[in-house]
Amino acid sequence: RFFRSAALAAGLCAVISGPTLAQEMVLKAGHAASTSNTGHKAFEFLAQELADNTDGRISLEIYPSSQLGSERELVESIQLGNVDMTFVSSAVLGNFNPQFFALDIPFMFKDRDDVYRVLDGEIGQNLLTSLEQVGIKGLGYWENGFRQLTNSKQDIRSPEDLEGMRMRTMENAVHLEAWRNVGANPAPLAFGELFTALQQGTFDAQEGPINLFYDMRFNEVQKHITKTNHVYSPWPILINPNIYNSLSDEDRVILEEAVAKSITYQRNLAQQADEAAIAAMSDVTITELSPEELEAFASHMDPIYDMVRERVGDEIIDDILAEI
Ligand code: PAF
Repeated sequence: RFFRSAALAAGLCAVISGPTLAQEMVLKAGHAASTSNTGHKAFEFLAQELADNTDGRISLEIYPSSQLGSERELVESIQLGNVDMTFVSSAVLGNFNPQFFALDIPFMFKDRDDVYRVLDGEIGQNLLTSLEQVGIKGLGYWENGFRQLTNSKQDIRSPEDLEGMRMRTMENAVHLEAWRNVGANPAPLAFGELFTALQQGTFDAQEGPINLFYDMRFNEVQKHITKTNHVYSPWPILINPNIYNSLSDEDRVILEEAVAKSITYQRNLAQQADEAAIAAMSDVTITELSPEELEAFASHMDPIYDMVRERVGDEIIDDILAEI
């Protein structure tokens, strides 16, 4: 009881005197990508901005490569306050707030302009706000990027080529159902375990942005890439709401301005990263699909629209379709 009262008194003291005390704050930031990745660089950029603009009062300690857990665990840790900041593929957030499944319908977004209009407009901002109901504060969207199909067996040009292949997806019911509809045999796995699973042949295929594929040296074990651009993965930037609410008004503005700058910085990097990765890999085949070949995959998505509409309601899907 004594400790609890003492802690309460100390907490009260911090609340009363917080804004004038200019406390030091070390934020623990975790993510699942590697240190060479654009998301990691964006955290470093953010750390520098925060340090510069608060005279070093607010700093970020960055833990890459799933050191603090898988993406699902990172989101849970944000809710619990064990991790202060993270970015994860939005696909994982559907498990916390189904509205996010609306972004997961394959072949819906044509290009980045479509995506940025949705994410940076009312729809994307409402999605971030909706996370507050589940104990998460969303600050904006970095870019993981358009996802491609890769495998260890053969060049893939049609759903028939993919028939029955064991395929890793993120932990996302929409992605799983979509690949089942195309004819693959998909299962979810945490990204941190993927290299070994591909190496050991537990999975024949996987899907994700090419720059991550290269960062993780998947080209050592998967020699065939098919450019499908099937899903765009945003990286929502997340912070524990208690941390966010404990910031003074001034620090909150500093954080938000730093995040806005980091979005421009990171998206620029991300836009170049796939091409750079392609140029650096001489040991893989990269298959470009004709519009007709792409349509052979996309034509399997009607039941996916129905599935997502059932889960999230019609409004958000219709709003997205009206925007793109
Ligand atoms: O494939 C995934 O699990 C995600 O795209 C990754 C690589 C963890 C980044 O968010």
